Amino acid sequence: MLTLRSPAKVNLFLRVLERRPDGYHNLASLFQTISLSDQLHFSLDEKDLLTSNSSHIPLDHSNLILKAANLFRQKTGYQFGLRAHVEKNIPIQSGLGGGSSNAATTLWALNALFKNPVTSKELASWAAEIGSDISFFFSSGTAYCTGRGEVVEELPSLAPTSFWIIKPPEGLSTAVIYNNFKPHLVPARDPRSALCDCLAGNPQYFNDLEVPAFAALPSLDVLRKRLLDAGFSQVVMSGSGSSLFCIGHGTPPDLPNYFCKQTHFLNRHSDSWYS
Ligand code: C5P
Repeated sequence: MLTLRSPAKVNLFLRVLERRPDGYHNLASLFQTISLSDQLHFSLDEKDLLTSNSSHIPLDHSNLILKAANLFRQKTGYQFGLRAHVEKNIPIQSGLGGGSSNAATTLWALNALFKNPVTSKELASWAAEIGSDISFFFSSGTAYCTGRGEVVEELPSLAPTSFWIIKPPEGLSTAVIYNNFKPHLVPARDPRSALCDCLAGNPQYFNDLEVPAFAALPSLDVLRKRLLDAGFSQVVMSGSGSSLFCIGHGTPPDLPNYFCKQTHFLNRHSDSWYS
Protein backbone atom coordinates (compact mmCIF):
# COMPACT_ATOMS: atom_id res chain seq x y z
CA MET A 1 0.00 0.00 0.00
CA LEU A 2 1.24 3.46 -0.90
CA THR A 3 -0.02 6.46 1.12
CA LEU A 4 0.46 9.96 -0.30
CA ARG A 5 -0.48 13.48 0.67
CA SER A 6 -2.72 15.32 -1.80
CA PRO A 7 -2.49 19.06 -1.07
CA ALA A 8 -4.96 21.81 -1.89
CA LYS A 9 -3.93 24.94 -3.83
CA VAL A 10 -4.83 28.60 -3.75
CA ASN A 11 -4.69 31.07 -6.63
CA LEU A 12 -2.80 34.00 -5.10
CA PHE A 13 -3.92 36.02 -8.07
CA LEU A 14 -6.16 34.99 -10.94
CA ARG A 15 -6.55 37.07 -14.06
CA VAL A 16 -9.11 35.77 -16.55
CA LEU A 17 -8.43 36.72 -20.15
CA GLU A 18 -10.50 35.97 -23.22
CA ARG A 19 -12.93 33.12 -23.86
CA ARG A 20 -11.47 30.64 -26.37
CA PRO A 21 -13.19 28.91 -29.28
CA ASP A 22 -13.14 25.61 -27.27
CA GLY A 23 -15.26 27.28 -24.52
CA TYR A 24 -12.41 27.52 -21.98
CA HIS A 25 -10.90 30.84 -20.86
CA ASN A 26 -7.26 31.80 -21.11
CA LEU A 27 -6.01 32.79 -17.70
CA ALA A 28 -2.86 33.93 -15.93
CA SER A 29 -2.58 32.88 -12.32
CA LEU A 30 -0.08 32.39 -9.51
CA PHE A 31 -0.83 28.95 -8.05
CA GLN A 32 0.47 27.82 -4.66
CA THR A 33 0.05 24.45 -2.91
CA ILE A 34 -0.88 24.60 0.79
CA SER A 35 -0.67 22.32 3.82
CA LEU A 36 -4.44 21.61 3.87
CA SER A 37 -4.43 18.12 2.30
CA ASP A 38 -6.32 14.92 1.64
CA GLN A 39 -4.61 11.61 2.39
CA LEU A 40 -4.77 8.95 -0.36
CA HIS A 41 -4.01 5.22 0.01
CA PHE A 42 -3.31 3.17 -3.13
CA SER A 43 -2.75 -0.47 -4.03
CA LEU A 44 -3.06 -2.51 -7.22
CA ASP A 45 -5.91 -5.01 -7.40
CA GLU A 46 -7.97 -6.91 -9.98
CA LYS A 47 -10.64 -4.20 -10.39
CA ASP A 48 -10.93 -0.48 -9.68
CA LEU A 49 -12.41 0.27 -6.27
CA LEU A 50 -12.64 3.75 -4.78
CA THR A 51 -13.70 4.33 -1.16
CA SER A 52 -13.77 7.42 1.05
CA ASN A 53 -14.61 8.69 4.51
CA SER A 54 -16.67 11.40 2.75
CA SER A 55 -20.21 11.00 1.45
CA HIS A 56 -19.83 14.19 -0.64
CA ILE A 57 -17.67 12.86 -3.48
CA PRO A 58 -18.67 10.45 -6.28
CA LEU A 59 -16.98 7.04 -6.05
CA ASP A 60 -17.61 5.96 -9.66
CA HIS A 61 -15.59 6.69 -12.82
CA SER A 62 -16.72 10.34 -12.78
CA ASN A 63 -14.23 10.85 -9.90
CA LEU A 64 -10.92 12.29 -11.16
CA ILE A 65 -9.01 9.55 -9.27
CA LEU A 66 -10.54 6.85 -11.50
CA LYS A 67 -10.27 9.12 -14.57
CA ALA A 68 -6.54 9.36 -13.80
CA ALA A 69 -6.32 5.56 -13.52
CA ASN A 70 -8.05 5.24 -16.92
CA LEU A 71 -5.64 7.78 -18.40
CA PHE A 72 -2.60 5.90 -17.03
CA ARG A 73 -3.94 2.60 -18.46
CA GLN A 74 -4.63 4.20 -21.84
CA LYS A 75 -1.22 5.91 -22.11
CA THR A 76 0.94 3.02 -20.86
CA GLY A 77 -1.10 0.06 -22.10
CA TYR A 78 -0.74 -1.53 -18.63
CA GLN A 79 -3.66 -3.60 -17.37
CA PHE A 80 -4.48 -3.24 -13.68
CA GLY A 81 -7.20 -2.37 -11.23
CA LEU A 82 -6.66 0.41 -8.71
CA ARG A 83 -7.85 0.26 -5.13
CA ALA A 84 -7.85 3.78 -3.67
CA HIS A 85 -9.13 5.20 -0.40
CA VAL A 86 -9.51 8.99 0.03
CA GLU A 87 -9.51 10.66 3.42
CA LYS A 88 -11.16 13.95 2.41
CA ASN A 89 -10.22 17.11 4.25
CA ILE A 90 -10.30 19.60 1.36
CA PRO A 91 -13.85 20.93 0.96
CA ILE A 92 -15.49 20.34 -2.42
CA GLN A 93 -16.69 23.18 -4.69
CA SER A 94 -14.26 25.45 -2.88
CA GLY A 95 -11.79 26.50 -5.61
CA LEU A 96 -9.03 24.73 -3.68
CA GLY A 97 -8.33 22.13 -6.40
CA GLY A 98 -8.99 19.03 -4.29
CA GLY A 99 -10.20 16.88 -7.20
CA SER A 100 -7.33 18.02 -9.44
CA SER A 101 -4.80 17.34 -6.70
CA ASN A 102 -6.25 13.85 -6.14
CA ALA A 103 -5.88 13.14 -9.88
CA ALA A 104 -2.24 14.31 -9.93
CA THR A 105 -1.49 12.27 -6.80
CA THR A 106 -3.04 9.19 -8.43
CA LEU A 107 -0.86 9.56 -11.55
CA TRP A 108 2.24 9.95 -9.33
CA ALA A 109 1.20 6.90 -7.24
CA LEU A 110 0.56 4.65 -10.25
CA ASN A 111 3.90 5.62 -11.74
CA ALA A 112 5.58 4.79 -8.42
CA LEU A 113 3.71 1.46 -8.09
CA PHE A 114 5.00 0.51 -11.58
CA LYS A 115 8.60 1.59 -10.70
CA ASN A 116 8.55 4.97 -12.45
CA PRO A 117 8.38 4.19 -16.19
CA VAL A 118 7.24 7.77 -16.98
CA THR A 119 8.84 11.17 -16.25
CA SER A 120 6.83 13.62 -14.15
CA LYS A 121 6.98 16.04 -17.09
CA GLU A 122 5.15 13.46 -19.18
CA LEU A 123 2.61 12.80 -16.39
CA ALA A 124 1.95 16.56 -16.24
CA SER A 125 1.31 16.73 -19.97
CA TRP A 126 -1.05 13.69 -19.90
CA ALA A 127 -2.90 15.25 -16.94
CA ALA A 128 -4.06 18.24 -19.03
CA GLU A 129 -6.34 15.84 -20.97
CA ILE A 130 -8.59 15.29 -17.95
CA GLY A 131 -8.54 18.74 -16.27
CA SER A 132 -7.03 22.22 -16.50
CA ASP A 133 -5.49 22.43 -13.00
CA ILE A 134 -3.93 18.96 -12.65
CA SER A 135 -0.57 19.62 -14.39
CA PHE A 136 0.27 22.35 -11.86
CA PHE A 137 0.64 19.80 -9.03
CA PHE A 138 3.69 18.28 -10.82
CA SER A 139 5.56 21.57 -10.24
CA SER A 140 7.33 22.22 -6.93
CA GLY A 141 4.11 23.88 -5.69
CA THR A 142 4.63 27.50 -6.77
CA ALA A 143 3.96 28.26 -10.42
CA TYR A 144 2.67 30.86 -12.86
CA CYS A 145 0.04 29.11 -14.95
CA THR A 146 -1.37 30.26 -18.28
CA GLY A 147 -3.35 28.79 -21.18
CA ARG A 148 -6.44 27.25 -19.57
CA GLY A 149 -4.22 26.63 -16.52
CA GLU A 150 -2.19 23.75 -17.92
CA VAL A 151 0.84 25.79 -19.13
CA VAL A 152 2.99 25.72 -16.00
CA GLU A 153 6.00 27.97 -15.38
CA GLU A 154 7.68 26.76 -12.20
CA LEU A 155 8.86 29.41 -9.71
CA PRO A 156 11.07 29.42 -6.61
CA SER A 157 9.20 29.00 -3.30
CA LEU A 158 7.64 32.13 -1.81
CA ALA A 159 8.35 33.31 1.74
CA PRO A 160 6.68 31.03 4.34
CA THR A 161 3.16 32.33 4.88
CA SER A 162 0.50 31.22 7.31
CA PHE A 163 -3.13 32.18 6.70
CA TRP A 164 -6.78 31.12 7.12
CA ILE A 165 -9.10 29.42 4.64
CA ILE A 166 -12.79 30.14 5.24
CA LYS A 167 -15.57 28.54 3.17
CA PRO A 168 -19.30 28.99 3.64
CA PRO A 169 -21.59 25.94 3.47
CA GLU A 170 -22.57 26.85 -0.12
CA GLY A 171 -20.22 25.70 -2.88
CA LEU A 172 -19.82 27.15 -6.40
CA SER A 173 -19.59 25.33 -9.75
CA THR A 174 -16.45 26.12 -11.78
CA ALA A 175 -18.28 25.89 -15.11
CA VAL A 176 -21.12 28.20 -13.98
CA ILE A 177 -18.73 30.85 -12.59
CA TYR A 178 -16.54 30.87 -15.72
CA ASN A 179 -19.61 30.98 -17.97
CA ASN A 180 -20.87 34.11 -16.17
CA PHE A 181 -17.52 35.91 -16.38
CA LYS A 182 -17.66 39.22 -18.31
CA PRO A 183 -14.22 40.71 -19.15
CA HIS A 184 -15.47 44.32 -19.22
CA LEU A 185 -16.46 44.13 -15.52
CA VAL A 186 -12.88 43.62 -14.23
CA PRO A 187 -9.85 45.98 -14.30
CA ALA A 188 -7.38 45.28 -17.14
CA ARG A 189 -4.48 44.40 -14.83
CA ASP A 190 -1.17 43.16 -16.25
CA PRO A 191 -0.62 39.69 -14.72
CA ARG A 192 3.16 39.75 -15.39
CA SER A 193 3.49 42.90 -13.30
CA ALA A 194 1.32 41.29 -10.55
CA LEU A 195 3.76 38.36 -10.66
CA CYS A 196 6.79 40.69 -10.35
CA ASP A 197 5.17 42.35 -7.30
CA CYS A 198 4.59 38.96 -5.65
CA LEU A 199 8.15 37.79 -6.32
CA ALA A 200 9.48 41.11 -4.97
CA GLY A 201 7.61 40.48 -1.70
CA ASN A 202 4.94 43.11 -2.32
CA PRO A 203 1.93 40.93 -3.20
CA GLN A 204 -1.44 42.36 -4.21
CA TYR A 205 -3.68 39.30 -4.36
CA PHE A 206 -6.82 39.44 -6.53
CA ASN A 207 -9.24 37.21 -8.39
CA ASP A 208 -11.23 38.25 -11.48
CA LEU A 209 -13.76 35.46 -10.79
CA GLU A 210 -14.96 37.25 -7.65
CA VAL A 211 -17.31 39.33 -9.81
CA PRO A 212 -19.40 36.40 -11.13
CA ALA A 213 -18.98 34.48 -7.84
CA PHE A 214 -20.30 37.38 -5.71
CA ALA A 215 -23.17 37.81 -8.19
CA ALA A 216 -24.07 34.11 -7.76
CA LEU A 217 -23.56 34.15 -3.98
CA PRO A 218 -23.89 37.72 -2.60
CA SER A 219 -23.32 36.51 0.98
CA LEU A 220 -19.73 35.66 -0.03
CA ASP A 221 -18.94 39.35 -0.57
CA VAL A 222 -20.56 40.13 2.82
CA LEU A 223 -18.32 37.47 4.39
CA ARG A 224 -15.24 38.96 2.66
CA LYS A 225 -15.98 42.40 4.16
CA ARG A 226 -16.64 40.87 7.59
CA LEU A 227 -13.24 39.16 7.48
CA LEU A 228 -11.50 42.41 6.50
CA ASP A 229 -13.23 44.02 9.51
CA ALA A 230 -11.86 41.16 11.63
CA GLY A 231 -8.36 42.47 10.95
CA PHE A 232 -7.09 40.52 7.95
CA SER A 233 -5.11 42.66 5.50
CA GLN A 234 -6.17 40.77 2.34
CA VAL A 235 -9.20 38.50 1.86
CA VAL A 236 -9.44 36.99 -1.62
CA MET A 237 -11.41 34.14 -3.21
CA SER A 238 -9.47 31.10 -4.48
CA GLY A 239 -10.17 29.71 -7.97
CA SER A 240 -13.87 29.77 -8.81
CA GLY A 241 -14.82 29.83 -5.10
CA SER A 242 -16.41 29.58 -2.72
CA SER A 243 -13.43 29.58 -0.33
CA LEU A 244 -11.69 32.79 0.75
CA PHE A 245 -8.09 32.98 1.90
CA CYS A 246 -7.34 35.52 4.62
CA ILE A 247 -3.83 36.95 4.93
CA GLY A 248 -2.57 38.95 7.91
CA HIS A 249 -3.13 39.00 11.64
CA GLY A 250 -6.92 38.84 11.93
CA THR A 251 -8.93 36.37 14.01
CA PRO A 252 -11.90 34.77 12.23
CA PRO A 253 -15.26 35.46 13.89
CA ASP A 254 -17.40 32.57 15.13
CA LEU A 255 -18.84 31.02 11.92
CA PRO A 256 -20.86 27.89 12.78
CA ASN A 257 -21.14 25.40 9.87
CA TYR A 258 -18.37 27.19 7.94
CA PHE A 259 -15.08 25.51 7.04
CA CYS A 260 -12.36 27.47 8.91
CA LYS A 261 -8.79 26.23 8.84
CA GLN A 262 -5.38 27.74 9.42
CA THR A 263 -2.89 26.59 6.81
CA HIS A 264 0.43 27.58 5.20
CA PHE A 265 2.28 27.42 1.89
CA LEU A 266 3.72 23.97 1.14
CA ASN A 267 6.28 23.00 -1.52
CA ARG A 268 7.79 19.69 -2.59
CA HIS A 269 11.27 18.51 -3.58
CA SER A 270 11.58 17.50 -7.23
CA ASP A 271 12.31 13.81 -6.47
CA SER A 272 9.46 13.16 -4.02
CA TRP A 273 5.74 13.89 -3.72
CA TYR A 274 4.35 16.41 -1.17
CA SER A 275 5.13 15.48 2.42
O1 C5P B 1 -10.79 21.82 -16.75
P1 C5P B 1 -11.85 21.73 -15.71
O2 C5P B 1 -12.61 20.44 -15.78
O3 C5P B 1 -11.33 22.00 -14.34
O4 C5P B 1 -12.88 22.90 -16.04
C1 C5P B 1 -14.23 22.89 -15.62
C2 C5P B 1 -15.00 23.94 -16.38
O5 C5P B 1 -14.56 25.26 -16.00
C3 C5P B 1 -14.80 23.90 -17.88
O6 C5P B 1 -15.73 23.04 -18.48
C4 C5P B 1 -15.05 25.36 -18.30
O7 C5P B 1 -16.44 25.62 -18.38
C5 C5P B 1 -14.52 26.14 -17.11
N1 C5P B 1 -13.13 26.61 -17.33
C6 C5P B 1 -12.89 27.69 -18.18
N2 C5P B 1 -11.61 28.12 -18.37
C7 C5P B 1 -10.57 27.55 -17.71
C8 C5P B 1 -10.80 26.47 -16.82
C9 C5P B 1 -12.10 26.03 -16.64
O8 C5P B 1 -13.82 28.24 -18.78
N3 C5P B 1 -9.35 28.01 -17.90
